[in-house]
Amino acid sequence: MSTALAERDLLHELTPVAEQLVHRHYDTCKPWYPHEYIPWSEAREFPPRGQWNPADTPLPDELRSALFVNLLTEDNLPYYYHTLDRLFGREGVWREWSHRWVAEEARHSQALRDFALVSQALDPWELEDGRMAQMSGGQVPNPRSAVDGFVYVSLQELATRIAHRNTGKSLQLAMADHPLGQAGYQIINRVATDENFHFLFYRDLTTAALEINPSVVLPAIERQVRDFAMPGTGIPGFRRHAEAIAKAGIYNLDQHHGQILQPVVMTWWKVESLQNLSAEAEAAREALLRQIQRIGTLARRLAERARDAKDRAKDVKERARDAKDRAVARRTRPS
Ligand SMILES: [Fe+2]
Ligand SMILES: [Fe+2]
Repeated sequence: MSTALAERDLLHELTPVAEQLVHRHYDTCKPWYPHEYIPWSEAREFPPRGQWNPADTPLPDELRSALFVNLLTEDNLPYYYHTLDRLFGREGVWREWSHRWVAEEARHSQALRDFALVSQALDPWELEDGRMAQMSGGQVPNPRSAVDGFVYVSLQELATRIAHRNTGKSLQLAMADHPLGQAGYQIINRVATDENFHFLFYRDLTTAALEINPSVVLPAIERQVRDFAMPGTGIPGFRRHAEAIAKAGIYNLDQHHGQILQPVVMTWWKVESLQNLSAEAEAAREALLRQIQRIGTLARRLAERARDAKDRAKDVKERARDAKDRAVARRTRPS
């Protein structure tokens, strides 16, 4: 049987599982209302163009990068929907799910933008120019089949949950004494909870697909792990922002390996112990295990380098403080 035919059969066999998972989603993902999370009374007039001052909402630059990238990524929703529509089709539960999913995702950019504007955490002109650039380009990952799509979206929804949650926690810390800090944490955390429900849907759909036909699914897992990239490449300054986000521990390779590949691919999907694989799937498994190991080694190396750099920066700061203390002591010593 050709791969395309096997994939079509698999989608057909997965239909009752998708129906069950959609109902589980309805039972667990309760409605929520973005406007209830926004501290509207904190809103103020914007200064004229060119006079927006980051010091008016003091935040570390990397946190601004995370807010900017997270929000613009959510803005690109029409193109993700386009991909899902192409992969899942417009029949029955597949259409029902992709429509429900798009309805839930649409409130993420709305909620995050309301917060960004009320808090003035981002330059609104830069944000709007970024949105126009990102959406005019419409760059999104384009998995080649529905099965590749299930795998990619499982990894990506979890990655997005991690990035949102860490952004929320960092914001709460950075603005601990300000009502916007707590409000920002709550709204971003609520968005992250939606992403978690989406992740569970796709993860469990992939689990069921693995039970039905592991020889079709395993090569898809290998392809998606090998080529995985967070969406957002069309965002102006994406590489610079992504580096800042990684450095701040909001989302980096260490988390990708330790919080996504290990728990989902290795532990949940049990790729090491799958049985009855075709020769092609067996080769894909070997390549996948090597790839995950390589990512783990690289992630550990980068994490160690980041720790060393942090220690060095701390040392420099302490030495500068000691030097300053000594200078003050010299100046105040009675002659
Ligand atoms: Fe989202
Ligand atoms: Fe999502």
